[in-house]
Amino acid sequence: MAEASEIRPGHKITVSAPSNIAFVKYWGATDLQRALPINPSFSMTLTECTSRSTVELLPEGMSDEVFLVDGNGGRLAEAPEAFRGRIQAHLERLRAWGVEHGRPPYGFRVATRNSFPAAAGLASSASGFAALTCAVTRALGFELGLEELSDLARRSGSGSASRSILGGYVQWPTGDGEEGAYAHQVFPADHWDLADVIAVIETGPKRVSSLEGHRRAPSSPHFPRRLELLPGRLTAMRKAVEARDFDTFALLLEEEAIELHLIAMSSKPPVFYWQPGTVEVLAAVRAMRDEGVPAASTMDAGANVHVVCPGEATAGVAERLEGLTSVQRVIRDRVGPGPTALDEHFF
Ligand code: PMV
Repeated sequence: MAEASEIRPGHKITVSAPSNIAFVKYWGATDLQRALPINPSFSMTLTECTSRSTVELLPEGMSDEVFLVDGNGGRLAEAPEAFRGRIQAHLERLRAWGVEHGRPPYGFRVATRNSFPAAAGLASSASGFAALTCAVTRALGFELGLEELSDLARRSGSGSASRSILGGYVQWPTGDGEEGAYAHQVFPADHWDLADVIAVIETGPKRVSSLEGHRRAPSSPHFPRRLELLPGRLTAMRKAVEARDFDTFALLLEEEAIELHLIAMSSKPPVFYWQPGTVEVLAAVRAMRDEGVPAASTMDAGANVHVVCPGEATAGVAERLEGLTSVQRVIRDRVGPGPTALDEHFF
């Protein structure tokens, strides 16, 4: 914990937080603004796909400043309007939380760099809001527990951010209603060495945000059936991960991802995230499995395909995906331990 005397304008903290990939997905909310999900989700926290945020306290009453860090030169650029809006709303929330806990209403200067394409179904909001929540609360001098951090990250409106606070294999929410809306670790990262080999098919922003997808989900005629199936699937998925049973895991993973997209495609109005390349990768993964390669696919709210496999299969799977015409680039990621504080700041 920082000394109370350090908690004044000029104080800086940098945190790197990873993205995560859901094995059982969050899709549909009882309260969208506060990210209270209809069903529990279960995910694996990653290592390579990260958001890194530096937060500096500004004197009371000063406006917040939000920058994106250029991946190559490291220059700070004004963040685009849509991105800035969501970040600023979360800064307001965290400032109000700080005031409730005895801190002055400081302004914040924030600079963030994603290690991967933002807003392309690669959960940049999960890592981004997790990093921001950790960095702001630390800059304000709090060393919070994981439950409280997870709950604060969730209040950003990105439910998956609450899972990125923890490492390993994570379930969210833990209990009912707003009191139970924080994530918890089910198994640590070293329980099972799984990799996520990401086939990047598109890098532009997706056409329909996950927030809009959540809003439309209950309009699908298949949604009630999904809700009936989910409790059994979550239990089976947790058991497969506990037993490190890849064959059972693979079937459940694919069944769940296809169902999410079935719901999206049959929502009113429909949401189509897939591109022709998505289908190419899905077919390649099925072909690999038929040949005995342990690999299974899943997709979030985007066209890119996450191919999950045991760590030792990574090189073979990645090479195979790199050979596909529609794959622009392959990211080799793996299960990891969660957010870390860093000494090096962006400014
Ligand atoms: O956290 P949000 O609002 O970006 O929603 C996440 C939605 C999915 O990525 C499709 C599923 C999930 O559980 O991560």
